[in-house]
Amino acid sequence: HPLVYFDNSATTFKPQSVIDAEIEYYTHISTNTHRGDYDLAQKADNYYDQARSTVAKFINANNSEVIFTSGTTMSMNQIAYGLSKNLNAEDEILLTLEEHASNTLPWFRVSEMTGCKIKYIPVDEEGRITLENVKKSLNEHTKIVTIAYVTNVMGYVNNIKEITKLVHEANAIMVCDGAQAIPHIKVDVKDLDVDFLSFSGHKCLGPTGIGVLYGKKKLLEKMEPLILGGGMNSSFSKDGEFGYLTSPYKFEAGTQNIAGAIGLAKALEYLDKIGLDNIHQHELELKKYAISKLKEIPEIEIYNANSDSGIIAFNYKGVHAQDMGTLLGSKGICVRSGEHCAKLLHNVIGTNSTLRASFYLYNTFEEVDAFIEACKKGSDFLDVFFA
Ligand code: ALA
Repeated sequence: HPLVYFDNSATTFKPQSVIDAEIEYYTHISTNTHRGDYDLAQKADNYYDQARSTVAKFINANNSEVIFTSGTTMSMNQIAYGLSKNLNAEDEILLTLEEHASNTLPWFRVSEMTGCKIKYIPVDEEGRITLENVKKSLNEHTKIVTIAYVTNVMGYVNNIKEITKLVHEANAIMVCDGAQAIPHIKVDVKDLDVDFLSFSGHKCLGPTGIGVLYGKKKLLEKMEPLILGGGMNSSFSKDGEFGYLTSPYKFEAGTQNIAGAIGLAKALEYLDKIGLDNIHQHELELKKYAISKLKEIPEIEIYNANSDSGIIAFNYKGVHAQDMGTLLGSKGICVRSGEHCAKLLHNVIGTNSTLRASFYLYNTFEEVDAFIEACKKGSDFLDVFFA
């Protein structure tokens, strides 16, 4: 069967230019960065530094504020560890019940380590964060607010700019999980004024194993690195004294994913060429069309019909999401099913298992038609599996 790939919130396919850039590095360079004084090493440095500049330009940051990590998860762990140093039992961290595990578990550990409290910003009946609820949740104990720009199951685009203003008025730090935003909408860290932002390369057409941690320079200067080793220290003595390099190198211990960084830069150039506004618009049109067709199937329950992105969370009544996911898979339709790493979301939508279709720039209306036809087969479920 032809493949219909609607699991783009999990990961995305790669343009040839991204694959070629990685091959080019491994074929013609392959040397380490920031360690060699010979020409080929210099070439690797140039490519790697250029990749950082491309990322910085893409999110409107300065180069020293862009740290390469292995992905959003690593970025969030670094941010949580770094910020934990200033917290105590009086303090509070604000999350929502819609966050991904990578924006929840690192904070749970910070709470365990420091005694600080985790609190949740309530959401409205649709599952959205309102500015009113953010205001009500902030108090003099709030030290950190950490939320997704685009939520990975409900697909809501949070008003990060206005939320950040409120967070700063309360003298707290604003952390933004940009994993589901960077691939789909324009993100300008200076305009948003967020203090930290994380994202992954593989969700925006780039390679796996590469991601970004953005932080404001003045905060990065004070932040302790989570990982120590070569390439991040200024010196160390046999008495155990050591010093750090400045950001970004302080946070990039060990040999980095050089090919990944180069591939990520190519992916961002690709997105830039097509234009994020065009991509977002295309996804919204696909989503609108898919929702209108899904609504014609009485057994389909949609949890986020008004989402602001190309993400649809739904179920086929009476069929477990993972069974339905398998059925769709047997017809070539790839969607994710289950909890989608957002294991507190059931507190909001009342079910701990959904199907999620997530669109991207290369998806088509014909693919949506094939998806809808397959969804109609939910009623055949028992026939298919127990015939
Ligand atoms: N974070 C990815 C998702 O939401 C894996 O599917």
